[in-house]
Amino acid sequence: MRLPFLTTSLWAVAAPTCWDDRVIPLAPGPGTGDLDAAALREHYAYPEGLSAPWVRVNFVSSIDGAVSVDGTSGGLGSDADKQVFGVLRELADVVLVGAGTVRAEGYRGARKDTRGRDTPPPIAVVTGSADLDPGSRLFTDTRVPPIVLTLGSAPQGKLDRLVAAGADVAVLDTLTPDALLAELARRGLYRVLCEGGPSLFGALTAADAVDELCLTVAPLLAAGTAGRIAHGPEGSPARPLTLVGVLRAEDTLLLRYRRVAPIE
Ligand SMILES: NC(=O)c1ccc[n+]([C@@H]2O[C@H](COP(=O)([O-])OP(=O)(O)OC[C@H]3O[C@@H](n4cnc5c(N)ncnc54)[C@H](OP(=O)(O)O)[C@@H]3O)[C@@H](O)[C@H]2O)c1
Repeated sequence: MRLPFLTTSLWAVAAPTCWDDRVIPLAPGPGTGDLDAAALREHYAYPEGLSAPWVRVNFVSSIDGAVSVDGTSGGLGSDADKQVFGVLRELADVVLVGAGTVRAEGYRGARKDTRGRDTPPPIAVVTGSADLDPGSRLFTDTRVPPIVLTLGSAPQGKLDRLVAAGADVAVLDTLTPDALLAELARRGLYRVLCEGGPSLFGALTAADAVDELCLTVAPLLAAGTAGRIAHGPEGSPARPLTLVGVLRAEDTLLLRYRRVAPIE
């Protein structure tokens, strides 16, 4: 099924000055059952012929900017968000995620094969402490070993237990975005999907390592004490992005922003 065009009323929301032919809008419809997986894969395709990591970040937020409800993102999700979440994983070579998110959200392995590969993308967890539960679903409920990106300063006993649980442990000199992405590149994992959390996203932003943000705006006012989708060091410059995609599924907006290409 082709995606139908967006109603006029949403064009105002979608900032017409940012319009270009990469925007594939979705008309308001009865729900995610109408979303076409092939069209979504086309909409979210990574650039062809990558020779270095392309970092796509995916988040869901309430309209008032909350990154979680009761400590997890589950309360913000919708069927449309879940569908896009799945498609983004299908397109990725690796899912990069901070340990705080793994611990809060009870991560397990991705299920569906990456397109062009016959295995799902591994989950690559960034943790300086190696404080991950080897009995958790990240290790017990996965088709491929998770990658643990960590430091030599992590307790050796914890590293040993993660290796025994089947993890592919990479001990790096530092966990800066450059070092993390260099390790993924060394493994040929260029289509990077970062699923957060806010600390890792903040570090990637400060390092100007974010190529793209996929943001689901959930039709909720969450208030509470939840943080934003990114936090990091003060003083790093704000990074301009350009709107390249708007999907709408009922009251949910699924936005896609890309880095503004540097002027040659
Ligand atoms: N709404 C959404 O889409 C969404 C998505 C993801 C997460 N969340 C929410 O965000 C919350 C977790 O936030 P968080 O900020 O703690 O999570 P996070 O960014 O996933 O994890 C932070 C942890 O990552 C590790 N880390 C190591 N090197 C790092 C580096 N260079 N930069 C950043 N982190 C590094 C550290 O783990 P060690 O302490 O092990 O060293 C650090 O404590 C949860 O409530 C989760 O539900 C929401």
